[in-house]
Amino acid sequence: MKIGDALKSATGLLENYSIESPLVNAELLLGKTLEFSRAWLYANSQAEMTMGEARRFMDLVAKRSLGYPLQYILGNVCFAGVELEVEPGVFIPRQETEVLLEKALEVIGETGEVLDLCTGCGNLAIGLALKRPCLKVIATDISKAAVRLAKKNACHHFVERRVEVIEGDLFDALDSGKRQKFRAIVSNPPYVPRGRLGELMVEVREFEPMAALDGGLEGLDVIKGIIELAPSRLAGGGWLVIEVDESHWEKVKREFLDRACWEEISVFPDLAGKPRVVRACFTG
Ligand SMILES: C[S@@+](CC[C@H](N)C(=O)[O-])C[C@H]1O[C@@H](n2cnc3c(N)ncnc32)[C@H](O)[C@@H]1O
Repeated sequence: MKIGDALKSATGLLENYSIESPLVNAELLLGKTLEFSRAWLYANSQAEMTMGEARRFMDLVAKRSLGYPLQYILGNVCFAGVELEVEPGVFIPRQETEVLLEKALEVIGETGEVLDLCTGCGNLAIGLALKRPCLKVIATDISKAAVRLAKKNACHHFVERRVEVIEGDLFDALDSGKRQKFRAIVSNPPYVPRGRLGELMVEVREFEPMAALDGGLEGLDVIKGIIELAPSRLAGGGWLVIEVDESHWEKVKREFLDRACWEEISVFPDLAGKPRVVRACFTG
């Protein structure tokens, strides 16, 4: 089969299965199969594929057509311009979380220590460390697979000495003896209300880890826990920057307002204009 024909038939198949951007998906899957760039595919559209290549490609297309995430097949994702490894069992970073990174960078300064709770593959922690070369980041996650991958990603970007990844439940992962205080805490925690998990897209609910999504009955279990305990780990004037579900921002803002120790509480929209990031300053 010719490369151009393979692309055409895979695009048609993915379209029939309602996969968004079927042509881009087909190009990336064929690029992965042949280990060539998308540009190369077009320059060589008349070249013949071997039977083995065609079979491997169609296997990937079939997997993708059933909703298996493209990023898990490719094994990587780009977050804020940084390429990170991803794998099944670990949450795939989303573009909207880049707003959280941006809003944290506005306030964290150049030095000191930042805590990233629920780090996943380490996207926020590594993003912060790369943008602020004198910053130290402690990143925690309850998932063994996430911790292992975040460590690996930190090594790939040569920031493993400034990004310490620890396994554990939120703040419990930290050394309780040290009583370390951070200049900021960032987090993109699980926040999907349990009753809405079944409404998520197939790619998400079938293939991404439930522990990364399930935020309890209302979706606020982890967020409330973070807001309650953050004051014990923030230095005065330190910031908490947290991603929320678009329908939760008022409730989350109320959580801050109900406590006297927070000021400068702001809500920021994601790239689609949905309220997503809540940021507040700890008065100390
Ligand atoms: C929505 S994902 C976010 C991952 C990454 N920070 C990002 O922005 O893409 C949530 C992460 O929180 C972790 N997690 C869930 N409950 C946790 C808890 N109690 N303590 C620490 N991590 C937790 C999950 O394993 C998952 O990696």
